[in-house]
Formats: sequence, C-alpha cells, structure tokens
Amino acid sequence: MKDAEENMLTIGVIGAGYWGKNIIRAFNNLKSVKLKYIVDSDQDVLNKFKNLYDVEKLKDYKKILQDEDVDAVAVVTSAHTHFDIAKDCLLAGKHVFVEKPMTLKVEHAQELVNLAEEKNLKLMVGHLLLYHPCINTLKEFIDKEEIGKPFYIYCDRLNLGKIRKDENALLSLAPHDISVAIYLFGENPLSVSAYGQCYLQKDIEDVVFLNMLFPGNKIAHIHVSWLDPHKVRRTTVVGSKKMIVFDDMEPREKVKVYDKGFDMTKNYDSYDEFLQIRDGDIHIPAVKMSEPLKLECEHFLKSIEEDFIPRSDGYNGLAVTQVLDAGIKSIKNSGIPVKIGEK
Ligand SMILES: NC(=O)c1ccc[n+]([C@@H]2O[C@H](COP(=O)([O-])OP(=O)(O)OC[C@H]3O[C@@H](n4cnc5c(N)ncnc54)[C@H](O)[C@@H]3O)[C@@H](O)[C@H]2O)c1
Repeated sequence: MKDAEENMLTIGVIGAGYWGKNIIRAFNNLKSVKLKYIVDSDQDVLNKFKNLYDVEKLKDYKKILQDEDVDAVAVVTSAHTHFDIAKDCLLAGKHVFVEKPMTLKVEHAQELVNLAEEKNLKLMVGHLLLYHPCINTLKEFIDKEEIGKPFYIYCDRLNLGKIRKDENALLSLAPHDISVAIYLFGENPLSVSAYGQCYLQKDIEDVVFLNMLFPGNKIAHIHVSWLDPHKVRRTTVVGSKKMIVFDDMEPREKVKVYDKGFDMTKNYDSYDEFLQIRDGDIHIPAVKMSEPLKLECEHFLKSIEEDFIPRSDGYNGLAVTQVLDAGIKSIKNSGIPVKIGEK
C-alpha cells in the first residue's frame, strides 16, 4: 500500500479543529509520510485550510476508507466520535492514531484493541506526554533506581480555560497524567477514587481530584481543573532516596532532582535520631529537547515501518479508559474507591 512514487507512508487526518491543526502540521512537516487528506465535517473549519496544504479536503471521511493508497489515519475529532471513526478505519485496514481519551466506554476500547490485533494493525493513542523528553528523563531516573523505590506521584494540570461543553475536566485533561503515572510506575492501577464538582456547567466537572492505588501501596494523585488562577503543568515523583520534579511551565531547567528525604539510622536513642532529614543538593539534568508532538507522530510512523508496539498502544489507551471510567463512577458515588474492571 506504499505510495508508488516515493515509497513512503500515506496518511489522512480526520478532525481539523483546535488540536487537529497541530497534528496536520506535525505530519505534514515529516519527510517520511505523505499527507493526502484533511477531513472535517464542519465546512467552516475546512474553509480555514483552503489556501493551506496542497492536499484533498473532505467533509466525509468515508472516501479515505476506500483509498488503497492510504496506510494510516489520525483521528482528532471530539472524544465521543473516536470509537466509530477508529473502528471504521481499522475495518478498512488502516493503521490508526487516535487522540485521547481513546474511547469513552471501556468495552469500546477493548473492541478497538481486539480489532487492531485481529487485523495486525497499529493502534496508537495520543498520550503526548509519553513522548516528552522530560517525562522520559523521569522514567530513566526511576528505572535506574536513582530515586530509590518510587513511593508516590502527583500531577497538577490547572489553568483558567479551555472549558469544554462535551466532556468534563477529567476526560479532557487527566488522560495525560494518568498515562504518565502508568508509564512511570510501569504497571496499571488497582483502584481509583475521585472527587469532582460542576461549578460552571450542569453535570460537567470543572475540577477533579483523582487518586489511583498501584500495587505495592504506590499512589498517584491527579488534580485537574480549568477553573484555577494558576497555569500549572507539574509532575512530582517522591522516591525512597530522591525526589524528582518536572515543571513544564519553566522555560528551561524543567527537570530538577532533589537529594532530599529521610535516612534511617541503625543506632539511635530517640525517635528523632531514627529518621534523619537529608536536605542535599538539587541536580538539574541536561534534557535534549525536541517537540513532543513531532516525536509522537514520528513514533507512530516508525511503529508501522519497523513493526514494533507503540509506547502508547491500544492497551495503554484501554488502561487509561478504565481509570477514567472508574473515576467517573467514584465521583458519582462521593469518592468511594472503585476497583479497576468493577462493573
Ligand atoms: N494531545 C493533546 O495535547 C490534545 C490537546 C487538545 C485536544 N486533544 C484531543 O483532540 C481531540 C479533538 O479536540 P479539539 O480540541 O481539536 O476539538 P475541536 O472541537 O476543536 O475539533 C474537533 C473537530 O472534529 C470535527 N469532527 C467531529 N466529528 C467529525 C466527523 N465525524 N468527521 C469529521 N470531522 C469531525 C469537528 O467539526 C471539529 O472541527 C479530542 O479528542 C481532544 O481530547 C488532544
């Protein structure tokens, strides 16, 4: 199915709104792929692309499904449409990149995973932070046990806006941090509890505090809000030896490793002597920066060309969908813990 002339992959992007325009730019800038279609069901949105990109612009994505030239599709539409569009694309034999959250229902996520496996196609979810060089620096520090045993993680994703009408702050903002916690701990959580409140719109939570319990009593806490005076994008990991912080609002020096913690002394006379505070140096590791979106799009294409499982594959999308589902159930039940997979 390769492009005959250039022997490169061919892609179509479905959904050209706020985020879609960035995905279109990112794929268009990559030399290893040919962008053939831009699709949006809204003519006003399509009109904005009239003089941009020398590619076909469509209102209906069905034409892409029949085009043998197209190897892959990026689904960048609103979350509630992801399942139907991604399913159609997989059934038509296309590799699929789908934005977060992969689907709104757990059974839909499972169906996409099964379908991709049956058809031997790549299914990758837009968990952008897994391609952020700083998050990968955190991952290296954790995997090399430089911070000791990881105890807990907390993430803040706060701002004033962008308010969504069709999904709450949990669905809109938390998939990034949920995927990060799963990635950094290297395993899926056991249970979720969450509180959220709807202040601005009926039945749409503006602020959510979500906790995940992982095996070995590790916890991750996520605070998301579009109703907050601060713009915060921060991930903190506390380990038995060191603590590490990624602050994406810092223009430079985004990652800091704190040699802070408590040392246990063997010979002690009092409780104060048993636990000794260690307030050591702060180390700023050099991180080779590159645009996470470019890295994410490259990763998707490479996973097709070199046939490997993408970092944010369908199972990762399913795991995040399970946490979101459990989180929504917990919010509706005043924050009670909900086991992953519990009906
Ligand atoms: N990875 C990130 O950092 C990030 C950031 C923002 C948004 N997103 C995700 O991207 C997706 C889109 O968000 P957005 O902010 O661009 O929303 P948006 O509403 O601005 O754009 C969605 C576009 O999809 C189009 N669309 C809807 N149904 C369609 C269909 N059946 N066929 C063709 N076009 C259709 C709409 O007309 C609209 O233009 C969401 O899943 C969102 O969560 C990801």
